[in-house]
Amino acid sequence: MKYHEIPADLFSRNRKKFTSQMENGCLAVFNSNDIYPISADGTMPFQQHRDLFYLSGVDQEESILVLFPQANNTAHREVLFLRETNEHIAIWEGERLTKQAAFHTSGIKTVYWLQQFDVIFKQLMAEANGIYFNTNEHLRANTEVETREDRFIKKIKIEFPAHQSYKSAPILHKIRSVKETTEIDLMQQACKITEAGFRRLLSFIQPGVWEFEIEAELAHEFLRNRSKGFAYTPIIASGKNACVLHYIQNNQQCKDGDVILLDVGAEYANYSSDLTRCVPVNGKFTARQKAVYNAVLHVKNEAQKLLIPGTIMAEYHKQVGVLMEEQLVKLGLISMDDIKNQSTELPAYKKYFMHGTSHFLGLDTHDVGLWHLPIEAGMVFTCEPGIYIPEEGLGIRLEDDLVVQETGAPLNLMGDIPIEADDIEALMNA
Ligand code: GLY
Ligand code: MN
Ligand code: MN
Repeated sequence: MKYHEIPADLFSRNRKKFTSQMENGCLAVFNSNDIYPISADGTMPFQQHRDLFYLSGVDQEESILVLFPQANNTAHREVLFLRETNEHIAIWEGERLTKQAAFHTSGIKTVYWLQQFDVIFKQLMAEANGIYFNTNEHLRANTEVETREDRFIKKIKIEFPAHQSYKSAPILHKIRSVKETTEIDLMQQACKITEAGFRRLLSFIQPGVWEFEIEAELAHEFLRNRSKGFAYTPIIASGKNACVLHYIQNNQQCKDGDVILLDVGAEYANYSSDLTRCVPVNGKFTARQKAVYNAVLHVKNEAQKLLIPGTIMAEYHKQVGVLMEEQLVKLGLISMDDIKNQSTELPAYKKYFMHGTSHFLGLDTHDVGLWHLPIEAGMVFTCEPGIYIPEEGLGIRLEDDLVVQETGAPLNLMGDIPIEADDIEALMNA
C-alpha cells in the first residue's frame, strides 16, 4: 500500500461496534471486491470493498472476514480467510499478507488460507443460528454487476437454506457514519493532498490550457503524496460545461473570460476528500461572475453553520433552499412572483440549484449513513451549494468537507484551501 500504516486498534474497535449490534448466536460474513476484468488479461486497478476494509484493514482481493462473537471456539470469533502466500508465490505474484502481517494489520489472530474456507465455514454454520449478509443497500448503488458478495450470498442461501438471514447494511450505515479520530485524521490527510493539488493549479491555469492538462497536474500531485489518485471521477468543467452536473469528459480548452469548475478530491488510505472550487481562467472574475460566486459562498457559509448535532437533513435541505432563493432573487435569476407561484415539489430555486447540498463522506465519497436520524458529532458531511446558469455559460459550486462537533460550528477539513474570490485571484496573479 502507498499509505502509511493504520493502527490495528481502529479496526478492532470497528468490529466491536458491529458485533455489539448482532443477534445472539449469529455470524456475519464480509467479502472483498473482485478485481474487475477489462478484456484479454487486462484488469481494472483493485478497489477494496469499503466494509471489509472498515472492519479489518485488509486491502487485498480474495479475502473474507467472518465475525461470530459467540462461537464456542474462541479462536473462531474473528476469522480472516486470505489468498495463500509464501516466499515462492510472492516471487510470482508480489507482496500479499502473510498470516503474521494480516494479524498486524487487522488485530485478528485467526487467519486461514482461502482454500480452507468451505470446511471451516461448514463447522461455523453448524453452530450458528443465523447469518448476516452484506448486501449493498446504498440508495444510489448501481447493482447491475454481480459482485463477489452477491455470488457468495446466492451460494450460501442454497447450501444453508435453514438459516435465518439478517442484514449487515443498517448496522454498517450507522456505525460507519460516526468517525473515529483516526478516521478524521486520515480524511484530513486526504484533504491536505487535495489542497496541494489545488494550490498547484493556481499558478498553472491560464487561457488556452486544456481541461485534461489540469487533470494531469492534479494526478501528479496526488500520487506523489501517497494517494492512489482521485477519490471519484474528477469534474474539470470550463465555461458552460460547468452546468452539466456530471461532466467528466474533461476534454475542452479553457477560454479567456470563462470560469472553470473543479470538483476534484484525492483519496488517502481509501478515505475520500471531496472539494469543489471555481477559478477564472484568466485570473480575474468579471463583476457578474464574482456576484454569482459570492452568492454561492454566502449560502455555503450559512448552510454549514446548520451542521450541528440534532439537525435533520431533510429540514436542513429545506433551509438551504430558502437561503438560495434569497440569493437568486438578488441576482435577478428568479422573481418574488416565481416564488409565490412555486409548488412544494418544484421550488423556483431548483431551476438554478438542482442538487442536494450535503452528503455523508468517508470511505465512500457518497458515504453510507442513516439519513432520517438527527445528525451527531463525528459525522462528516460535504456542504456544496451551486448556481448554474447555462444561458450565461457559468456554473459555480463551492464544496468543503465538515466534521460535526459536539458543540459549535463544524470543523472544516478544507479550512486551509483558499475560497474567497479575492484570495483566489491574488494567488493566480502572484
Ligand atoms: N464529487 C461528487 C460530489 O460532490 O458529490
Ligand atoms: Mn460532494
Ligand atoms: Mn464534489
